[in-house]
Amino acid sequence: MHASTAPLFGWHDHSALRDALAAAAEDAIIYDLDGIGRQYAALCAELPGAAIRFAMKACPVDEVLDHLARLGSGFDAASPQEIVQALRTGVAPELIHYGNTVKSDRNIAEAYRLGVRDFATDSREDVAAIAEHAPGSRVFCRIATTGDGALWGLSHKFGCSPEDALRVLGSARAAGLVPSGLSVHVGSQQMTAEAWGEAIETLAALLETLNWHGIVPDRINLGGGLPALSVLDRRGRPLEPPLDKMLTVIREGVERLRAVNAAPLDFLLEPGRHLVADHGAIRAHVARLTSRHRLDGIREDWLYLSCGKFNGLYEMDQLQYRLEFPTRPGGQFVNAVVAGPTCDSDDAYAQDGMVRVPCTIASGDPVWVHSCGAYAAAYTTQGFNGFAPLPYTCIGGPAPDGGGA
Ligand SMILES: Cc1ncc(COP(=O)(O)O)c(C=O)c1O
Repeated sequence: MHASTAPLFGWHDHSALRDALAAAAEDAIIYDLDGIGRQYAALCAELPGAAIRFAMKACPVDEVLDHLARLGSGFDAASPQEIVQALRTGVAPELIHYGNTVKSDRNIAEAYRLGVRDFATDSREDVAAIAEHAPGSRVFCRIATTGDGALWGLSHKFGCSPEDALRVLGSARAAGLVPSGLSVHVGSQQMTAEAWGEAIETLAALLETLNWHGIVPDRINLGGGLPALSVLDRRGRPLEPPLDKMLTVIREGVERLRAVNAAPLDFLLEPGRHLVADHGAIRAHVARLTSRHRLDGIREDWLYLSCGKFNGLYEMDQLQYRLEFPTRPGGQFVNAVVAGPTCDSDDAYAQDGMVRVPCTIASGDPVWVHSCGAYAAAYTTQGFNGFAPLPYTCIGGPAPDGGGA
């Protein structure tokens, strides 16, 4: 039996983050490095055969990357700029791959100059460019998935059919590249274990075909998609992803794919939100609680916050983050629509996703926004309507002398 990691995940161990939220006098994003480290360790323990390459886009914050690098993580980078940031952690270039199938000649040449030799691809055009600007490199072909079961399917822009993959890896081999492997991404905030099951079946069939054609990959990248655990759906209901089941399917899939391939296979995973989402929070404040009538006569209460879609809560139209009103724990509540501070109508929770808000809440009161550590910093605009990016702080991590936390 596999030991359960439940106590390490999710909503359970957030005392340090809560203390930091309570101590914050001004708005800020706070990342709990120890929480991120525990999440990383738990994932490694669950999937001991897989190397982790953190998808930087989920949290391109130097301290977070430094901490993950110290723990042994590599990085999934999507541009030369991200590669430079990853290298600043001191990680070896071999632990960085260029995971973006979209790249210009210049991007490829720059990544190669920086020492990266692993490139994701999904087209023969991209392979030809890699062969020219990153000669001899390893390529892994991204296979399209349906994205079913995920909040963000990622099914259109990336990945090719298995038939195309044969052509893509064949052209890589012919061009002097190493047709090193296959990758998939089952969609971000994936909510079903079946998505990995289906992807693994597709990969198994494709491995057999590739082997038959004399292409024997040495690695499989099972992508991102592992979920945040403590966010709510658009209407405010807990999402409760079946994490244990997902990990079981992945473990079994690793064995299955190893059994199919004619040579040993290494496995990579490039989680983003799963490592950071539940270990970042925002200290925001109330702009105002208002009440007004819609055109159909129905009264609606609205809670406007100091942060929203353009400065920390980019995904607020697809999910809800748990809110806490630390200075107003009891009393009467109204059900309100929550929105950010800008003059933009997308900057709001779904209108049918009411949140219980204390009636006495006043402009300036602190609000804690939980589990928003993923995609908060990266998706922040430079000053939409003049609202500047939130400053961030990190808690935990190594002691200043370089020792343990
Ligand atoms: C190539 C790649 N890998 C990993 C990720 C991380 O995904 P997630 O945050 O769902 O784990 C993404 C996200 O878009 C991606 O494009």
